[in-house]
Amino acid sequence: MPRRLAILGSTGSIGVQALDVVSRSDELQVVALSASDAWETLVEQASAHGVGRIALADENAAARAAEAWTDGEVLRGPEALVELITGAQCDLVLNAIVGSAGLVPTVAALGEGIDLALANKESLVVGGELVMQLAEATGAAIIPVDSEHSALHQLLAGEPPGTVDRLIVTASGGPFRGREREQLHDVTVEEALAHPTWRMGGKITIDSATLMNKGLEVIEAHHLFGMPYERIDVVVHPQSIIHSLVALCDGATLAHLGYPDMRVPISYALHYPERVDVPVRPLDLIEQGSLSFEPVDTRTFGCLALARAAGEAGGTAPCTLNAANEVAVHAFLGGRIGFLEIAAVIERTLERQPAGRVHSFESLAAADAEARAIAGELVEAFAQNA
Ligand SMILES: NC(=O)c1ccc[n+]([C@@H]2O[C@H](COP(=O)([O-])OP(=O)(O)OC[C@H]3O[C@@H](n4cnc5c(N)ncnc54)[C@H](OP(=O)(O)O)[C@@H]3O)[C@@H](O)[C@H]2O)c1
Repeated sequence: MPRRLAILGSTGSIGVQALDVVSRSDELQVVALSASDAWETLVEQASAHGVGRIALADENAAARAAEAWTDGEVLRGPEALVELITGAQCDLVLNAIVGSAGLVPTVAALGEGIDLALANKESLVVGGELVMQLAEATGAAIIPVDSEHSALHQLLAGEPPGTVDRLIVTASGGPFRGREREQLHDVTVEEALAHPTWRMGGKITIDSATLMNKGLEVIEAHHLFGMPYERIDVVVHPQSIIHSLVALCDGATLAHLGYPDMRVPISYALHYPERVDVPVRPLDLIEQGSLSFEPVDTRTFGCLALARAAGEAGGTAPCTLNAANEVAVHAFLGGRIGFLEIAAVIERTLERQPAGRVHSFESLAAADAEARAIAGELVEAFAQNA
C-alpha cells in the first residue's frame, strides 16, 4: 500500500518539486493539498494527482476554487489546514508552507501522531522546544527537508550518542558574498533575489541574501539534533556541493555531497527509511575540480549573529526574531525599506521585546503578534525617513 501523503504549500517551490518526486514514485499517494491563495494552480494539481480534498487559507480564493472545481471538497479559512490534516487519514504530512503560518499545521500533524516531513523551518524556530516535546509525546517522527538538515539526519543516522563533537552547516554566501557592508545600502530586490546556486521562493531567497536563513537553520539544527549552539558551526561554501558535515570524537569528519537539487532531500524525507531513484546528475568531482570554504563575514551579514543570540537567549526570543524578520523581508520585497534595514528592524524589535518564558503555544502566538506590531512601527519609521 502506498503511503498517504498530505502536501501543505503545494503551490510553492518545495511543494511543486515534491509533486514531481511523488509523480515518479509508486510508494506515495497524495490525498490532500493546500495553498494560501493560488487556487487555480492548486485545482490543477488536485486534478492532475487525483486528490479529493484541498484547503485554501484565503476565503475568497477558496470560494472561487469551490465554484470552479466540483470533483472534490474545498476547505477554507484559518482552521482549514487543521481540518485537512485531521480528516485526511494520512500517514505523512509534508509541511512546505513559508513562515510562522506553518506552526499550527506542524502542531496538528504531530499532535495526531502523524509523521512530518518538515520544510517549514520556521515551525522549529518559533516553537522548537514545544514542537520537539510534542513529537516525543506522540511518537511522530520529524524528518527534515532542508538540505543541510537532511544531510545531518543522514550523517548522524549511524552514530551512537556521545560520538558527535560538532555539526558544521554550509552556506552558499548568497548573491552578496564578498561585498562590504557599505556596498549593500542600495542593492535592489532583483539583485537580492538572484541566488547563485538555489532556485527557491521569495522569502527564503531574501533570507539567504541576508544570511538569516543560516541563522534560522542553526536554531533548527539545535532543536532537531539536540546540539548546544556553541557546537554548531557555519562555514561559507559557495559551490553548495557539501550540504553539511559532522565532526566526530575520534577526529573523523563526515560530509554529505551532491549537486544542489531539492528533490534529493524531499525524496529522502518522503520515503524514509527507504531510498528510491531520483533523476539527478551523479556528482562528478573531476568536472567540479575544486571546492572552497570561507568564514562568514558577520559584520556585513548581521542577521546570522542576531539569530544565534536569539537562539541562545531562548524563550520567546527566536519567535520575536522570526516575526520581525518576516515583517522586514515583506517590507523589503515591497520596496518600503532597504536591504540593510532588514537587520536593523530585527535588532530593534529584539531590543524592545526582551525574551519571555514560553508556557504554551498561546504564549508564542502572543509574542509573535507583539513582535509584528513593533516591527511594523519600525518599518513605518524607516519608510518615512527614506
Ligand atoms: N525553496 C527551497 O528550496 C527551500 C529549501 C529549504 C527549505 N525551504 C523552506 O520551505 C518552506 C517553503 O519554502 P518555498 O521556497 O517553497 O516557499 P514558497 O515558494 O513561497 O511557497 C510557499 C507555500 O506556502 C503557501 N503559503 C504561504 N503563506 C501561507 C499561509 N499563511 N497559510 C497557508 N499557506 C501559505 C503558499 O501558497 P500560495 O502559492 O497560494 O501563496 C505556497 O504554497 C519555507 O519554510 C522555506 O524556508 C525551502
